[in-house]
Amino acid sequence: MKQQQTILTKVRRALLAAFCVAVMVSPVAAGEMVKVPHTPELYEKTPEALTPAQCGQCHTRHFDNLQKDGRKHQFACQNCHTKFHAYNPTKGNYADLMPKCQDCHLSLPHGEQFTECLKCHTNPHTPRNVPFSDYLKSQCGICHAGPGGMLAQFPSKHTEQGCTACHTKHGLIPTCFDCHEPHIKGQVYEDCLTCHNPHKPLEIMFHGEETKVDTCQACHGEVYGKWSTTEAKHGKVSCARCHEKHGQIPQCQKCHNYPHGEAIHKQVPRCLDCHLDVHNLPVRPGVKK
Ligand code: HEC
Ligand code: HEC
Ligand code: HEC
Ligand code: HEC
Ligand code: HEC
Ligand code: HEC
Ligand code: HEC
Ligand code: HEC
Ligand code: HEC
Ligand code: HEC
Ligand code: HEC
Ligand code: HEC
Repeated sequence: MKQQQTILTKVRRALLAAFCVAVMVSPVAAGEMVKVPHTPELYEKTPEALTPAQCGQCHTRHFDNLQKDGRKHQFACQNCHTKFHAYNPTKGNYADLMPKCQDCHLSLPHGEQFTECLKCHTNPHTPRNVPFSDYLKSQCGICHAGPGGMLAQFPSKHTEQGCTACHTKHGLIPTCFDCHEPHIKGQVYEDCLTCHNPHKPLEIMFHGEETKVDTCQACHGEVYGKWSTTEAKHGKVSCARCHEKHGQIPQCQKCHNYPHGEAIHKQVPRCLDCHLDVHNLPVRPGVKK
């Protein structure tokens, strides 16, 4: 009780004193204040933007994503997040805050059909990791018209397979050996492509010297046997140089023109009536090689 009174008295005196000072020393009002050191030097510099690593101290997952697989999106977070930490559930402004792809990607990279980027690029912090979703699988042909067109135009058993039987992940290129044996021992995947296009596998095209002719022996053993042991100079001419396409028969004139004079060629129009076997030309003993 007594203590309370003394406190009250003290407060009254203080107020009175303050009043007197205020009246006498005004306009600079001076009151009793909590002491806070005045440190204007702290405000000399404007703050620097947080670095991605600083954002990442809290948003560890987003930082990790960008660090490991951000690819060309490895730039400051704020380039995309021009506004952040402003989400307000009563305003429901979350979608407004989120960056829009089209702010930077001014044209549609895949054409008019594809406007909803996040449907495929589900994580903008790992932009190239497009999940192999059912949606993506139903759209292959729109972005890759070439392969789809070939499979349709040149029907084969590959046409029945569908893209994802071979491309089991987006961008993955299968090897033929996942499903086939080679024609002969020692063939490598690259060899297959010198004759077959996987999107029109029955349209066999040869690619000059790149096409290794030892493959022909798998199916044309007899011809190959003659050609590879002949004494004549045709043994040095690659099968694919004469047969530019599978099944095509070349004209001798393409390389030799008419070497014997008009009279002979008129009399015997077919060269092989005299030269007999193109894969094993008869040569005069002692003249060959
Ligand atoms: C290339 C642009 C881009 C960059 C760079 C980027 N973000 Fe994002 N971020 C987005 C987009 C777009 C969304 C919205 C995704 C959605 O709606 O699914 C998003 C969403 C977010 C979200 C909220 C949604 C969630 O997934 O939790 C956070 C938090 C976030 N980003 C943090 C960061 C941080 C931290 C960085 C830098 C380390 C960063 N972002 C860099 C584009 C970006
Ligand atoms: C001190 C921790 C901390 C730091 C540093 C931080 N954030 Fe956040 N951020 C949060 C918290 C907490 C939330 C709200 C909860 C959540 O969504 O994870 C949030 C939410 C977000 C969101 C989604 C909601 C909104 O309001 O935008 C984005 C985007 C975001 N932060 C981006 C960033 C970026 C970019 C940086 C760096 C420039 C950053 N944050 C730095 C803690 C932090
Ligand atoms: C702040 C601008 C900005 C925003 C917003 C943005 N991007 Fe990008 N993005 C870029 C830049 C810059 C590149 C690199 C372009 C280049 O060098 O060709 C890029 C590249 C990409 C790449 C290729 C990545 C690589 O490494 O090859 C993809 C995919 C991509 N962006 C998708 C998106 C998607 C999807 C969104 C929306 C969720 C988005 N971007 C939002 C600026 C942005
Ligand atoms: C139907 C799915 C799908 C949609 C929708 C989609 N993308 Fe893509 N995008 C892809 C695929 C798949 C890739 C190739 C990714 C890879 O490299 O494996 C890609 C690649 C990219 C690339 C890199 C291209 C290059 O050639 O380097 C950019 C940039 C890109 N997308 C931006 C966008 C933007 C912006 C949008 C929205 C306007 C968008 N994408 C919508 C599936 C999609
Ligand atoms: C929205 C467009 C889009 C869709 C849909 C799409 N792709 Fe792609 N695809 C791309 C882009 C962009 C690339 C990257 C090209 C590059 O790297 O130069 C690519 C690359 C590829 C590659 C690798 C090409 C190479 O030369 O290595 C294959 C294979 C492929 N896609 C197959 C598919 C298959 C199969 C589907 C369906 C499941 C599909 N794509 C769906 C856009 C798309
Ligand atoms: C029987 C297996 C098989 C099927 C089915 C198949 N592909 Fe391919 N695809 C391949 C192989 C093997 C390559 C590599 C060819 C090369 O390197 O020349 C390839 C290459 C590609 C490429 C990159 C090179 C290019 O030609 O543009 C794309 C894109 C592609 N395929 C898309 C598709 C699409 C889309 C479908 C369905 C319409 C499809 N593929 C069906 C095996 C297949
Ligand atoms: C994912 C499996 C798969 C891959 C990879 C694949 N094929 Fe096939 N291919 C098949 C199937 C299945 C058939 C039909 C076989 C049958 O009916 O006996 C076939 C048939 C063929 C045929 C005969 C086509 C016809 O209509 O008679 C050729 C030629 C062929 N493949 C070549 C190739 C070559 C070359 C490659 C590599 C560039 C390759 N394949 C890659 C699955 C595949
Ligand atoms: C020198 C050309 C050539 C090369 C190289 C080649 N093929 Fe063939 N392949 C053919 C021809 C020609 C056929 C027969 C087509 C026909 O019946 O009309 C064929 C047919 C096939 C067939 C259909 C089934 C069969 O055996 O008749 C398959 C499967 C096949 N090839 C796979 C392959 C694979 C895998 C490779 C690589 C290891 C390969 N091919 C390399 C020319 C070649
Ligand atoms: C793709 C080109 C080509 C075609 C097609 C071709 N040849 Fe030749 N032929 C050659 C070459 C190269 C030589 C060697 C020339 C040399 O070394 O002087 C040769 C040499 C010859 C020789 C000399 C043989 C020797 O060993 O001295 C005869 C004979 C001959 N060819 C006949 C024919 C006949 C007949 C045909 C048609 C049935 C034919 N050639 C088709 C390229 C061809
Ligand atoms: C100098 C050109 C030339 C060379 C090299 C050549 N051919 Fe021929 N080939 C021909 C001509 C011309 C015919 C048509 C012969 C005829 O009308 O009797 C033919 C016919 C064929 C035939 C069908 C008739 C038969 O005899 O069975 C086959 C199969 C054949 N060649 C395969 C091959 C193979 C495999 C090689 C390599 C090992 C090869 N050829 C090298 C020019 C050539
Ligand atoms: C996988 C088996 C296979 C391989 C490998 C193969 N062929 Fe054939 N080839 C055939 C079949 C089957 C025929 C007959 C059906 C046809 O006319 O398409 C044929 C037909 C031919 C013919 C036409 C024969 C005629 O009587 O008109 C020539 C020429 C030929 N092949 C050349 C080659 C050459 C050159 C190679 C190697 C570069 C080769 N083939 C590789 C299977 C093969
Ligand atoms: C009436 C028979 C006969 C006919 C038809 C014939 N040749 Fe000959 N050819 C010969 C004889 C004989 C030789 C000389 C052989 C020798 O010297 O070993 C020869 C030599 C050649 C030679 C090698 C010598 C040289 O001149 O370079 C070539 C190449 C040749 N013939 C190409 C052809 C072509 C191409 C045809 C068809 C347009 C053809 N021949 C028609 C009989 C014939």
